[in-house]
Amino acid sequence: MSEGPRAPLSRRDAADTAPARFVEFAPDVVASAPGRVNLIGEHTDYNGGEVLPMAIALRTWVAVRRRMHGNVLHVRSASHATEGEVDLRAPRCAGAWWDYLAGVVAQLAAGGLVLPPCDVAITSDIPAGAGLSSSAALEVATALALAELTGASLPMREIALLGHRAETAFVGVAVGIMDQFASALGAADRALHIDCDQQVTELIPMRDAVLVIDTRGRRALRRSAFNARRAECDRALALLRRAHPELRHLAGATVDEIRDAQLPAPLDRRAMHVVEETDRVRAAVSVLRRGEPLPGELLCASHASLRMQYECSTPELDWLVARAMQCDDVRGARLTGAGWGGCAIVVGEAAALPGAAAALATEFAATFGRSPRTWITRAEAGARLEPLGS
Ligand code: GLA
Repeated sequence: MSEGPRAPLSRRDAADTAPARFVEFAPDVVASAPGRVNLIGEHTDYNGGEVLPMAIALRTWVAVRRRMHGNVLHVRSASHATEGEVDLRAPRCAGAWWDYLAGVVAQLAAGGLVLPPCDVAITSDIPAGAGLSSSAALEVATALALAELTGASLPMREIALLGHRAETAFVGVAVGIMDQFASALGAADRALHIDCDQQVTELIPMRDAVLVIDTRGRRALRRSAFNARRAECDRALALLRRAHPELRHLAGATVDEIRDAQLPAPLDRRAMHVVEETDRVRAAVSVLRRGEPLPGELLCASHASLRMQYECSTPELDWLVARAMQCDDVRGARLTGAGWGGCAIVVGEAAALPGAAAALATEFAATFGRSPRTWITRAEAGARLEPLGS
C-alpha cells in the first residue's frame, strides 16, 4: 500500500515490520487487523442487505504482555499522547480513545473469559476518522490478542461479532456488521460478500487494484447524520410493514412495493437506495465470481444513488468521482463507507492508477485548498496473530 501517488509497496512490507513496532516491551501476543474499503453495498448492512468490502493494506497491531499484579489493562498507543487504564472488574466508557478496548474487555468478560492484568501497546497505519474502519480494526485486533492470551481459541466470526458488540452495545455507535466482518474475515485477493440478514459470508475473487483517496473532511457530522439515516430507514420499514407485515428488513422490499407504498419524502428515496444498492451488490458479485474485473458502471451508479437518494455525499467526494472518471483507463469510482466526508475509491487498469492518483491529488488540492491522502491497495489478509521474537 502506498501513501501518496507513488508506486505501491509490496504487500509484505507492513506485516514484516510488525514485531519491530513494539520496542517498549517483549509481548506475549501480537495480533493485527486491517482497515477496509467497501467496494459496493453502502448503508445496506444495517438494513439486512448485502455488502462487498475488502481488507486493505493498512493495519492496526496490538501487542499484549501479561503483568504479575493488578486488576487493570494498561493501554498506550503510538497515535495518542494519553495512556489509559481499563478496570478489568468493571470496564467503563471514559469518552477516551481506549473505550474500544474497554468495550472488547467487557464483551470478553460477558463471554466468561477471565483476563489477566496486562500491558497493551497499539500502533496503526489506519488514519482515524477517514472512514477506513480504524475502530473496527482496533476492536478486532484487541479481541484476537486478548482471547489468545487467555488460551481461548475463538473463531474469527466470533471475534468479529464481539468487536461489533463492543462498538454498538458499549461505545454506543449504531453501526452495522460490515466493518468488523471485513477486518476479521478478509483475505488476500478476495472481497468479502456478506449477507447481513443471515450473517453469511463468502470470499470471492477480487484481483483489481483500488485507489483510495481520503478527502480529509467533514468528520464531525458523520455520527449524527448516520443515526438520522438509520432512523429514516426504520420509519420507512415500519410504513412498508403496514402493507407487508412479513417484511423482515428494508432491503427485503421490492422496488414495486416501495413505489406502491407511496412513502413520504425523503423516506421513499432512502428505501429505494437500499433496495437498488443491494441489487447492485448481487450484480457485482456475479461478475467477480466469473473472475472478471469489478464493473465500474455499478460503482458509478452506487455513487449517484448515495448522492441523490441517500444524500450522504459531499462536494469533495462528488468532485473526485466525476474527475476520476475523466482519467484514462479508470472504470469506476464512488464514495466508500458512511459518507459525509471520508474516502472515495477508484478502480481501473492497475498501471493507470498511480497517474490518476497524482493528477487527482494535485487538482483536488488546487480546488479545495487541502491535500488529500492517497493509497493504492489490493485486497489483503484479514486479522491474524503475528509471529513473535524476530
Ligand atoms: C459505516 C458503518 C458500516 C456501514 C457503513 C455504510 O462504515 O460502520 O456498518 O453501515 O457506514 O455502508
